[in-house]
Amino acid sequence: MYKFFIETVGCQMNQLDSELAVSGLTRAGLERVMDYAFADVIIFNTCSIRQHAEDKVYSAIGRLKQWKLQKPFGVIGVIGCMAQKDQGKIISRAPHVDLVLGPGQLDLLAETIYRLLETKSVGVSTQPEILVSLQRLKDDHSAVKESFRLFDPARKVESRKNRFQALVRIMFGCNKFCTYCIVPKVRGPEQSRSPVEILNEVRQLVDQGVKEITFIGQTVNSYKYFMPRGNIVTKIPIPLKDVGVVGGDDIIRLSDLLYMSSEINGLRRIKFVTNYPVGMGDDLLSAVRNLPNVSKYLHIPVQSGSDAVLKRMKRQYSVAEYKELIDKIYETIPDAAVTSDFIVGFCGETEDEFRETVELVRYCRFKNSFVFKYSERPDTRSAELYADDVDESTKKRRNNELLDVQEEICLELNRKFIGRKVEILVDGETKNYDDGKVQLSGRTSCDRIVVFDADNSDLIGQFIEIEINNASPFTLFGCR
Ligand code: 5AD
Ligand code: SF4
Repeated sequence: MYKFFIETVGCQMNQLDSELAVSGLTRAGLERVMDYAFADVIIFNTCSIRQHAEDKVYSAIGRLKQWKLQKPFGVIGVIGCMAQKDQGKIISRAPHVDLVLGPGQLDLLAETIYRLLETKSVGVSTQPEILVSLQRLKDDHSAVKESFRLFDPARKVESRKNRFQALVRIMFGCNKFCTYCIVPKVRGPEQSRSPVEILNEVRQLVDQGVKEITFIGQTVNSYKYFMPRGNIVTKIPIPLKDVGVVGGDDIIRLSDLLYMSSEINGLRRIKFVTNYPVGMGDDLLSAVRNLPNVSKYLHIPVQSGSDAVLKRMKRQYSVAEYKELIDKIYETIPDAAVTSDFIVGFCGETEDEFRETVELVRYCRFKNSFVFKYSERPDTRSAELYADDVDESTKKRRNNELLDVQEEICLELNRKFIGRKVEILVDGETKNYDDGKVQLSGRTSCDRIVVFDADNSDLIGQFIEIEINNASPFTLFGCR
């Protein structure tokens, strides 16, 4: 039996794609190993969002030259965004790579690898295969849909991180074309999956024991699917208490998906990421408020607190509009936790513009912020239009300063939980830094990490109540 090893970097899209790749390969008769030294196939699922992510993959592939010399019949595959972006360049830089396969071709991964292995095993040399045609997505939307249909629901339980949490893709690609971003180029145009397929997949996962689902999409709140109202009752695979929740027109929106999936028995928690700040409709906010099994957690990246920078980034909102949205969220859902992403040192960002970002972080009181230094991506609008003119040390300083401000807010917000009881889904073990003792950790509905002492790991996968007795910026501590 051939053995494969897979390494994944990047976002939750990649995490899910890797789960699907693992399922596809095991179904094709390959066995997964956790040490590449024992593998016949090594796959890198890659990310292109920043240069740093790519550099790490290129050096990891470089180190595999030796492995390939010892195992000439082995297969090295590069999948994911970097495969789509660099295509044949990967082979020129690393001729020992056998397969480059983009995100829209994932359904072809197992058969291609199997073919390469079989051909090599009889001593016939192979040419590197490059399967990256985004054209397939553009011309033939059914190719994407087909790859969804064959692929997403076909996931094996063992390929997931654990039995009780699962990612469900509700859309593919992005149409926003923010000037700094490579995603629309490598993941193709925005396409929403049919709600019937999504809900069937969710139900199938819940039947397998999943308690928490995360709907994922690059701009998840843009989810839209045309479906005549009459079909909703006949085709949606769950009994609906109140079909009236579905929008008045024939468009199924994210809020509708939330209402419908919230009725699935046994599904205790539903999350969704990532939101774009435009299109956070009242329907969505009230779904989050009204549905007890929808997490009160909203990740809505703002990227910058300066209108001028937002304009250069081609984000489609102003700082005032974002603040209005934040006000409305806290009004509608008082216990909501909002998180954001920021890019510091974007082309031409002045000190004053950066100060506006710091100001916005203080205003919004995010539960957490992810801060990134701008990294120029080839063939993006910002690379074409503007100079990457903020020097590295300024980027670093702004990055650290923003994180420091955010950390203060994190601690303030977390301290408010001391003395309160929270419900968490226990999701794993963690080691206490001080004494090395193993503790358990989980997350609240508002996505806060909670750590507590426990004698054994039987609680993993369960919802339990914890009383919080201490807080650090990124963790709550408590006991049962
Ligand atoms: N440089 C730095 N950060 C980026 N992001 C996207 N593109 C870039 C880039 N070129 C960040 C954005 C996005 C997150 C996933 O990655 O903040 O929300
Ligand atoms: Fe990239 Fe903007 Fe699309 Fe997000 S919304 S994936 S940042 S282009």
